[in-house]
Amino acid sequence: MAHLFNRNILLGVSGGIAAYKAAELIRQLQEHGANVRVVMTPGAQAFITPLTLQALSGHPVHTELLDEEAEKGMGHIELARWADLLLIAPATANVIARLSGGRAEDLLSTVALACPAPLMLAPAMNQQMWKNAGTAVNIETLAQRGAHIVGPETGEQACGDIGPGRMETPAMIAAAAASVFDTGLLAGKRVVITAGPTREALDPVRYLSNHSSGKMGYALAQAAVDAGAVTTLVSGPVNLKAPEQAGLVNVESAQQMLKACLDLTPDCDIFIACAAVADYRPAVIEQQKIKKGAEELQLTFLRNPDIVATISGLQPRPFTVGFAAETTGVIDYAKDKMQRKGLDMIVANDVSDQAIGFNSDNNAATAIWSGGEKALPCASKANIAAQIIGLIAGQISEPG
Ligand code: C5P
Repeated sequence: MAHLFNRNILLGVSGGIAAYKAAELIRQLQEHGANVRVVMTPGAQAFITPLTLQALSGHPVHTELLDEEAEKGMGHIELARWADLLLIAPATANVIARLSGGRAEDLLSTVALACPAPLMLAPAMNQQMWKNAGTAVNIETLAQRGAHIVGPETGEQACGDIGPGRMETPAMIAAAAASVFDTGLLAGKRVVITAGPTREALDPVRYLSNHSSGKMGYALAQAAVDAGAVTTLVSGPVNLKAPEQAGLVNVESAQQMLKACLDLTPDCDIFIACAAVADYRPAVIEQQKIKKGAEELQLTFLRNPDIVATISGLQPRPFTVGFAAETTGVIDYAKDKMQRKGLDMIVANDVSDQAIGFNSDNNAATAIWSGGEKALPCASKANIAAQIIGLIAGQISEPG
């Protein structure tokens, strides 16, 4: 279930006997690499304590809408934005009715209204309540709005009845959650992505580099894996774990990065250059550590090869995507760069804004291609990456 790796799952737990299974669900989601935060309704707290779910999730459990202390930490709107998926398990008949009516009278329903991420419900209730026409209409309404419904199972119920209404097993819910991220848009395509900074050695102990964290490139790799692509990351030195299903080639210098990319491009359909490649490298890498002495030290630098321009100049060439980090005239410079480097698409972002860009978990950008452009407003890098992959898939299937 590589699709859960690094995903932010906001787990809503409502008041039914199946609430105890939320503990196991948290473990299952975490085992597959997801980050889990929990919202509990008052009813849920009658069945399982917030302390249990706090201990398992590793984060305070959110229970109140009008809680000054909680709002000082991760407030309800921030919580809603944090989520890549809002998963409500168990979802009682009451919660389902509140969501279908668009109500915002408690923390869970308010977060659900404010949450742009997909919604998944694992209903759990007495079989007669599940069969009730009111519940059926509410479920239908939510499904039509795009909610994913997992379960319920049929079997013996806590109340002694036999019928549909048992919550689906945690393993099945985790698998369903993973499948939400599996878009299949690039099934069978081969994608190579450069990420992170390069390091240009000066001597055996020193190098020149930059602050690129690699987060955007790694998020793109995850999005490409989710889209079913055979994905390879060519990464400079970063502190990140590559998605389980992606290949990883670790490099240091720009020259090593170029060589790795050239080795991989013959069978590559899409090349995405997200790395912050050093423009210059020292002309000489000293064999011994440079001694301090003179007041002034002069070094000579040579231009590094332009990796993305080299790849876009190949024949045949992959669909080639570059990035443009700019501080002024962002769109104009990006369009110019796209032409100069022979790119099919460029993703431009304004790095003068400290809240987004290099080391942040969020980003905002504009994707530009020959037939159009699309603004990608501030969102998690995972979300921006999924949108970029979606745009690339669209261009590959229907250029224009
Ligand atoms: O020219 P500039 O560095 O602004 O271009 C940024 C784009 O070009 C990014 O996609 C980056 O990964 C790529 N690039 C490259 N090789 C270089 C310099 C930049 O692939 N030497």
